[in-house]
Amino acid sequence: MSKSKTKTVPDNPSIATGAVNESTNARINALREEIRRHERLYYAFDDPAISDAEFDTLMRELIELETTNPSLITPDSPSQRVGGTVSESLAPVQHNRNAPMLSLDNAMNVEELLRFHERVVKNLERDEILYTAEPKIDGLSVSLIYENGRFVRGATRGDGITGEDVTANLKTIGSIPLKVEAPAGMERFEVRGEVFIPRERFEDINDERERNGEKLFANPRNCAAGSLRHLDPKITASRGLDIFVYALVVTNEDGGRLTTPLADGHHSAMQLLQLLGFRTGEKRFYGDIFTLTSEVYMLGEERDSLGYDIDGMVIKVDSYRDQEELGATTKFPRWAIAFKYPPVQGAAMIKDIILQVGRTGAITPVALFDPVAVAGSMVARATLHNEDEIKRKDIRIGDTVFIEKAGDVIPKVVKVVESKRTGAETVFVMPTQCPSCGATLSRPEGEVVTRCESHDCPAQIREKIRHFVSRGAMDIEFVGPAVIDQLLESRLIVDVSDLYRLEKESLLNLDRMAEKSAQNIIDAIERSKTQGLARLLFALGIRHVGSRAGSILASKYRSIDCLVSTGVDELESIHEIGPTVANSVTEFFGRQSNIDLIERLRGAGVNMGDESGKGASSKQILEGKRFVLTGTLSSMTRPEATSKIEALGGRVTSAVTKKTDYLVEGADPGSKSKKAKELGVTILTETGLSELLQADEG
Ligand code: IVH
Repeated sequence: MSKSKTKTVPDNPSIATGAVNESTNARINALREEIRRHERLYYAFDDPAISDAEFDTLMRELIELETTNPSLITPDSPSQRVGGTVSESLAPVQHNRNAPMLSLDNAMNVEELLRFHERVVKNLERDEILYTAEPKIDGLSVSLIYENGRFVRGATRGDGITGEDVTANLKTIGSIPLKVEAPAGMERFEVRGEVFIPRERFEDINDERERNGEKLFANPRNCAAGSLRHLDPKITASRGLDIFVYALVVTNEDGGRLTTPLADGHHSAMQLLQLLGFRTGEKRFYGDIFTLTSEVYMLGEERDSLGYDIDGMVIKVDSYRDQEELGATTKFPRWAIAFKYPPVQGAAMIKDIILQVGRTGAITPVALFDPVAVAGSMVARATLHNEDEIKRKDIRIGDTVFIEKAGDVIPKVVKVVESKRTGAETVFVMPTQCPSCGATLSRPEGEVVTRCESHDCPAQIREKIRHFVSRGAMDIEFVGPAVIDQLLESRLIVDVSDLYRLEKESLLNLDRMAEKSAQNIIDAIERSKTQGLARLLFALGIRHVGSRAGSILASKYRSIDCLVSTGVDELESIHEIGPTVANSVTEFFGRQSNIDLIERLRGAGVNMGDESGKGASSKQILEGKRFVLTGTLSSMTRPEATSKIEALGGRVTSAVTKKTDYLVEGADPGSKSKKAKELGVTILTETGLSELLQADEG
């Protein structure tokens, strides 16, 4: 609703016509009330009562009536979100002298959080303290002033004393109510909150900027900042900003702080603000420090699945009386602390750019730098994707860059920090020879990928073996990258089929190889023989054949021999198999060396059929079903759940849509659950998923 709403509100109507009759006035007022009620339900309670289209119809009627009766337009009408004109600069605004917008002290770990608690206990001389914990949204803080129920002025934090007037821009944010039913005693109040841009919107905006050749925003925070401080409110409106509010300050006319009997602490103030129509955020916890510490930890695990960036949790002593007693230093309140999560972005200087050779010969340039902490782990290399990406982002050796890691994705270089350029940086030139085998690299017309075409390139062979043994493929435990390197170096293996000829005695000759490890390796290799055709097809590393294509082909042909003799046209006629996969498969089986490899695997006892194996495609009971995963699963990781679903013919997608068949809900599910309920999507618990997956084995 937020998106369509900001888009459907047109410019200020300005044609003055006609006399006003009473019933028009009444209808306008009724429409405004109705629209406000729906805004409140949608934004503050996340519980819409009508569809976007119905909402738009109400809004359109209001705008039409206001256009014909302009004298009835009021600044707090819900139609007035995109008003105002482009300004030349943002006017300075003094924040309340009695309540400057302070910053927060940080706790980097649990010990520091507990030390904060000990200080609070000492100061209050009481050890039962109740706290509220809520996400620390990575956006920009703003102050919203309400007088007699009307939003009259909004400002950025600035230096905490003086900010900038961004009222017109803030009005474009649907979740900021323009008019509220303020209770007695709240004739004047200020609400503070964090303006942010949801991740999905951020991705869309950057995609569009990329298409238009415009400069990309480095992260959602920068995008939100640029949008909120834009001089043209229409641009702000188009960006789809949002807000979570986190503080209420009630004042008298001189700015003196007042208390309201309706809220004696932060938790009740947030409930009151929600009732008034403000968006207070979905993850708020209330309790003693020990309960909150575990909530804080758990949310840290889940932060990737939230639709917005958070950089920590803010823990606040809840009671206003306690807050006042604790007071503040010049910089921070003594009653609150920010528990910081590790940053998702790091900055580092590129020391070198090297080439990595993939299992299909694809060459990936990789940036090397001194280790930096990104999303909780240290990284020292990040992919640069390909030659064109390096040119497009103008990444040079010696540049300081932002590095990002989302979820379990490999780190990537997001952007160059241009202000750090000294002129001593070197432009990267793509080498012409493979760093592993020395073969001449090629880059066909119209393709972005540079390749090593050699079939006996050691780097490709090593990557092929790593892929063959990996979890989603033949899943050979205990044969990790280090063991593979040892096996290759000692020439115990040359390709994957040699794994099946390994003997324990020869393994024992390897460095640091004990009896037990050798036996584990032999057993794991033996077990992998019965993985089945789907996994084998994926494991062979045929270009463009992922685990899903492997499953489809296996369930169709049921034995590798049938597949080997199939032509491109027939392959292409299979649902979901396109020309790229079809060509790649026939090309693979057309090469004698691959047929020889398959024969060696068969000779070693590897199962080449479908039915007898416990392989991925034994039955396609989830054929065509779409799954979305949300929350934390306890019995398996997300990649595991995904591969199990895919093995049975299902698909896992990231967003809930009308086409989704099942939403699998783990602990602390996110907003996807709500969406699924709205759309009537079947919701499965983790146990439900396990039962569905096991139905195959019964
Ligand atoms: S309370 C006096 N609560 O963090 C306490 N701040 O480092 C003021 N922030 O300037 C802040 N989420 O921009 C508070 N739930 C939250 C917050 C939050 C984000 C930001 C805010 C503040 C900065 C302090």
